[in-house]
Amino acid sequence: MAIRKVGDCRILGPLGKGGMALVYRGVHELLQREVAIKELSPDSAKDPEKMSRFKREAMALAGFHHQHIVTLYDLIEKNDGWYMVMELVDGPTLSELIKEAPLPPQVVSVVGLQLAHALEHAHFQRVVHRDLKPGNIMLSKLGETKLMDFGIAQNEDLDRLTKTGLAVGTPAYMSPEQITGAPVDARSDVYSLGVVLFEALAGARPFTGSNPGEVFAKVTQGKRESLKKLAPSTPKPLREVVERMLSVKPGDRFPDATALRHALEPMLAGLDKPPGALLVNFLRTRQKITESEALAHLSQTDLSQLSQLSPAELSAVGGSRWGVGLLFGAALGAGAGLTMERWLPVVRAWLESLR
Ligand SMILES: Nc1ncnc2c1ncn2[C@@H]1O[C@H](COP(=O)(O)OP(=O)(O)O)[C@@H](O)[C@H]1O
Ligand SMILES: [Mg+2]
Repeated sequence: MAIRKVGDCRILGPLGKGGMALVYRGVHELLQREVAIKELSPDSAKDPEKMSRFKREAMALAGFHHQHIVTLYDLIEKNDGWYMVMELVDGPTLSELIKEAPLPPQVVSVVGLQLAHALEHAHFQRVVHRDLKPGNIMLSKLGETKLMDFGIAQNEDLDRLTKTGLAVGTPAYMSPEQITGAPVDARSDVYSLGVVLFEALAGARPFTGSNPGEVFAKVTQGKRESLKKLAPSTPKPLREVVERMLSVKPGDRFPDATALRHALEPMLAGLDKPPGALLVNFLRTRQKITESEALAHLSQTDLSQLSQLSPAELSAVGGSRWGVGLLFGAALGAGAGLTMERWLPVVRAWLESLR
């Protein structure tokens, strides 16, 4: 088989497929770094609409620098095809996870909060995502939620020049104003994120129908399923946040992603793990990551504390190759005087859970 190369990246195999593009796993050969490569095929590139969406996505991503938004490394043209070289998010999409089973409320709170942070960043740059849905959200193996696919994002500065009123998006996640073609702003993303969080908690969508028309009618009338009924174990404060996000009138929702973030923060006040560790643990229970990958995460957040662990606790990690690295790292961390007193109990609980 011919080796396919894009710039300095070798394509290794397919990763995913969306509405518009193919995404491949690749490796940057000089940097020896794994990457994701999103392709607009030469055929698709002939379509001006697709081409302009692809370039707009790249330009939107190029303006972001955020832990919870996928990072763009490069945009390359080759043989009439176009390629975005991106950070590889090694982990499942939210859609894959929801299909298996609803997510625990604490996990949903963390995902919601991390996405609120991402939206705050995008909205600050006057970019509205407009296509928030589980297939465009991934969970990395390091316990980070990543927002991607800005393919139909709207830049409030650029788009004043273009026609509005074009209904774009994915029916089940579109806001009432997106459906009716009314002006769309940051609060539309708050709404769509509400649909995502509802679905993550309940394992079912708030608006269903046998065709898009039926769904649209329910969305614009606010005739949604009851979250209380579908996900009775959701804590009331979290349920109320999600319900407010789903208000039909934009004015009844949170005014912006910052207000949403403030509303979600208290949900995590009583966590017994840092949010990242909570997601990693969740991915472990869903068998999306292996034990050594979980330990790799541990090495990132809690390395410096390991030297304070008892010999028995150390032997729990000492058995693996990661363990050796961790011990070495722990010694370095201790030498550098890094102390994170408050994570020590977390590390202990973590090691306990790995036994
Ligand atoms: N950076 C990435 N790392 C890993 N997988 C990715 C990445 N970007 C996209 N994917 C995978 O490819 C799928 C399609 O990507 P997406 O950007 O949503 O394309 P589309 O615009 O065609 O919907 C995603 O659902 C995901 O499974
Ligand atoms: Mg997509």
